Amino acid sequence: MDSYLTRNFDRPDAKTLAGYEKLGGFRTARKALGMKPEDVVAQVKAANLRGRGGAGFPAGVKWGFLPDNGKPRYLVVNADEGEPGTFKDRQLMERDPYQLLEGILITCHAIKAKVAYIYVRGELVHAARFLEECIEEMRFKHYLGKRCMGMPMELDVFVHRGAGAYICGEETALLNSLEGKRGEPRLKPPFPAVEGAFADPTIVNNVESIANIPHILEHGGEWFAKLGVEGDGGTRIFGVSGHVRKPGLYERPVGYNLRTLLFEDCGGIRGGNQLKAVIPGGSSTPVLLPSEIDIPLSIEGLQGAGSMVGSAAIIVMDETVCTVRAMWRLSRFYHHESCGQCTPCRDGCGWIEKIMERIEFGKGVPEDLETLEKTAHGLSGTTICPLADACAMPTLGFLGKFRKEFEEHIEKKECPYGNAFVPPWEVD
Ligand SMILES: Cc1cc2nc3c(=O)[nH]c(=O)nc-3n(C[C@H](O)[C@H](O)[C@H](O)COP(=O)(O)O)c2cc1C
Ligand code: SF4
Repeated sequence: MDSYLTRNFDRPDAKTLAGYEKLGGFRTARKALGMKPEDVVAQVKAANLRGRGGAGFPAGVKWGFLPDNGKPRYLVVNADEGEPGTFKDRQLMERDPYQLLEGILITCHAIKAKVAYIYVRGELVHAARFLEECIEEMRFKHYLGKRCMGMPMELDVFVHRGAGAYICGEETALLNSLEGKRGEPRLKPPFPAVEGAFADPTIVNNVESIANIPHILEHGGEWFAKLGVEGDGGTRIFGVSGHVRKPGLYERPVGYNLRTLLFEDCGGIRGGNQLKAVIPGGSSTPVLLPSEIDIPLSIEGLQGAGSMVGSAAIIVMDETVCTVRAMWRLSRFYHHESCGQCTPCRDGCGWIEKIMERIEFGKGVPEDLETLEKTAHGLSGTTICPLADACAMPTLGFLGKFRKEFEEHIEKKECPYGNAFVPPWEVD
């Protein structure tokens, strides 16, 4: 069985509690709620489930960091889904919401939390409302409440909507936002597992990470681990966008070949064009050349190619794309989304955007390339959170791999691809 997370995506029945149960739903929750919490955690550890939000931290290990200090514990599900290119969590919430809610029930039993929050990206209005309806139905049927499913377990779940800031996907900014504060990242340590929501121990996990939990408990951690590669188990939902013939979500085992995914499953490049570049894991991950895509889609596989699997959002660019323009667009995003707490990020992302803009619009000078490199290196590892690195990594990646294209813009004093845009400084 190579796909389980998306198995209900085309079954509308799964969107009601009764329909989901008919499809076998909540059977595993009943079983897991009867197990000792430590045994549930042990299964998740054995599964080698790596976080699906971007950083890839092993979920079971994170759960093991919770201190036994008698304080209340929380589960916070990260449904902010802001990384450009990523669109899997929205589908998981809208097309199989009870799978996620079953995962939440089991996780809260395992980590002994009585309250869970789902922090939903502000723009995902439908997903947030739908989840609220599903939660209401679960409360009504006593799947949530003082005795969940008739078992000695108390749990309530709340949906909290963000307001559209990318930085609120970073777990500590998310916690600040959840508490009603400005969505700015906190200094770590302390990590959320020790001091998270309301200064109490908190587990923050991505939607897809939690949606995996019922399947791990149904079939066992060992089964899950074997689906993937060593140390990186299960399947992943790859979100392929851009210039392939059949973009969309593809659930494939961890370690699946990137070239096979693009050229067989996604039908290759549109209009018989040549492939030019692939961003493999969301916009912050370094770009790959066509000669570099014969690799396994796993944390180690992408590391070996000098990039990252990130949130498994694969952005495909064909030969019609100007990579300078693409990087300029990305740098605008990161500059706009910087929360401004750290000088290297606040100013550095701004400088990268400015320099990229003038190169794209034919106003660059040869020294710009060195300044870009220096600025990007100055951002890396010097800030409170990794947003600055998220801007530096693609800058260095594009510049390293498409330097000739950058130089051509500077020499010709224009974009060789033609430029349909009005330069920003000429817009009123
Ligand atoms: C700038 C920034 C944005 C992030 N956005 C998201 C997001 O939208 N969704 C998400 O799950 N994780 C996001 N993360 C990662 C979270 O901080 C955190 O690692 C993750 O929610 C942990 O869950 P996981 O271990 O299940 O992946 C972001 C991190 C950074 C630095
Ligand atoms: S790195 Fe950027 S986004 Fe992160 S805390 Fe510093 S200023 Fe804010």
